[in-house]
Amino acid sequence: MVCLGNICRSPMADGLLRAKVERDGLDVEVDSAGTSGYHIGEAPDPRMRATAKSMGINIDSLSSRQFVQEDYDRFDVIYAMDESNRDNMFRLARNEEDKQKVKLILNEIYPGENMSVPDPYYGGDQGFVDVFNMLDEATTKIISDLKS
Ligand code: 4NP
Repeated sequence: MVCLGNICRSPMADGLLRAKVERDGLDVEVDSAGTSGYHIGEAPDPRMRATAKSMGINIDSLSSRQFVQEDYDRFDVIYAMDESNRDNMFRLARNEEDKQKVKLILNEIYPGENMSVPDPYYGGDQGFVDVFNMLDEATTKIISDLKS
């Protein structure tokens, strides 16, 4: 799960998918990163953590890291929150196979529409709830596809 800062959207996506993988006993490694290095080592944004907690998901122990080229070797699928994150990752891709791993997460539930998970960082509290709900739906679809 990849966004810009790895403190709002991608840690939420990570926490949701991780919780569902554990709930269903799946053997899947979940992680997240940011394309920027702005917040390396920081815990998720307190507003995202509070929203997560109110919905029963704890993301307090996650720590921001930057997306690196080796992530293309570690992961089979890499979900970008928006097209800018995707383009940033494409710049680190070595070949077409790397690029094929990168998907826009909202295309899981709105196929082909290339929609963005809006960055909630500079907005109000509702933005965090909206991000939670979008990612909850998208991760439910990812889990259902993993099981089929
Ligand atoms: P995220 O949100 O990409 O969802 O983690 C952001 C967090 C911080 C910044 C931008 C986006 N920032 O510019 O510091």
